[in-house]
Amino acid sequence: MSKRSYRVAVIPGDGTGPEVIREGLKVLGEAARRFDFRLETVTYDFGGDRYLRTGETLPDGAVDELRQFDAIYLGAIGHPEVKPGILEKGILLRLRFELDLYINLRPVKLYPGVETPIKGKGPADIDFVVVRENTEGLYAGAGGFLRRGTPDEVAIQESVNTRKGVERCIRYAFEFCRRRNKANTLTLCGKTNVLTYAFDLWERVFHEVGAEYPDIKREYAHVDAICMWMVKNPEWFDVIVTDNMFGDIITDLGAMIQGGMGIAAGGNIHPGKTSMFEPIGGSAPKYTGKNVINPLAAICAGAMMLQELGEAAAAAAVEQAVATVCSRHLKSLAAGQMGYTTTEVGDLVAQYVADAATQA
Ligand code: IPM
Ligand code: MN
Repeated sequence: MSKRSYRVAVIPGDGTGPEVIREGLKVLGEAARRFDFRLETVTYDFGGDRYLRTGETLPDGAVDELRQFDAIYLGAIGHPEVKPGILEKGILLRLRFELDLYINLRPVKLYPGVETPIKGKGPADIDFVVVRENTEGLYAGAGGFLRRGTPDEVAIQESVNTRKGVERCIRYAFEFCRRRNKANTLTLCGKTNVLTYAFDLWERVFHEVGAEYPDIKREYAHVDAICMWMVKNPEWFDVIVTDNMFGDIITDLGAMIQGGMGIAAGGNIHPGKTSMFEPIGGSAPKYTGKNVINPLAAICAGAMMLQELGEAAAAAAVEQAVATVCSRHLKSLAAGQMGYTTTEVGDLVAQYVADAATQA
């Protein structure tokens, strides 16, 4: 039998992206050895430096080239010398849209030994997953200016919600919730009291699709209440499904309660197609090149990638190794306060993966 083999496109990107991706690849390489599969990588230099040099965000044909890979592993996009929006829209959002990565999956999980700002809560309380719609809503770029720069200026930014787009996201969330099999509860996060068109559609689809999942309990909460409860009673959540903008916002809050940007990972997913995995924090220019940034978020994104590629045992081993490093070693998850360098944290995780039992 030939060895299982995967081709991964690597986009280290800007700022601390290359440093964390280097550690992520170290751990993935160890997982491949330990669990006996092959990982072939091709690195792309898309990002701020290339843009400043060439004026190009993604060159022609790049998206089609990336489509040929089994997965994409992304570090960070965002450069202090490039006007905000150019790289985000030109690279990150473009890849999400053109590869039709309609799910942004963002686990919020507090590992043992990690400090959370939420007093009195521990790993048993903070363990849920946000399913963020990733191709529509306010991110669709619909809108425009009228009489720009005049006192009569009008700026319109429209939220686009299609029946198909909403339905596939909600269906994914029900399926995911069933597979996860934790509390079997899916919460729709919306704003039905104000966004009476968009979330009317979301709510109808939620209940229609939900009727096919009688084993999954359906709950609804407005986005503002979700923010309140994520702080006050995070244990109430199992899986949350929401639109693009709300998902963006609540997952930064989620990252904070799970110990910060140093550990928060996400997957931009189109089931069965080339998906893209990334730490959800930014390029952190002030820490760049200092070997102090926390690579665990990138490493966790790597674990999510393994899971999606079908290497569940390897994914679990990487996650377990991260948990062990958090509980036994790191003083803090914050950049420069870990008690270890970026490289050393990568080494530690890789070592635990190498030592992992075969059956995770
Ligand atoms: C994220 C980021 C992006 C987003 C930005 C960089 C465009 O904040 O992945 O959450 O808003 O989706
Ligand atoms: Mn965000």
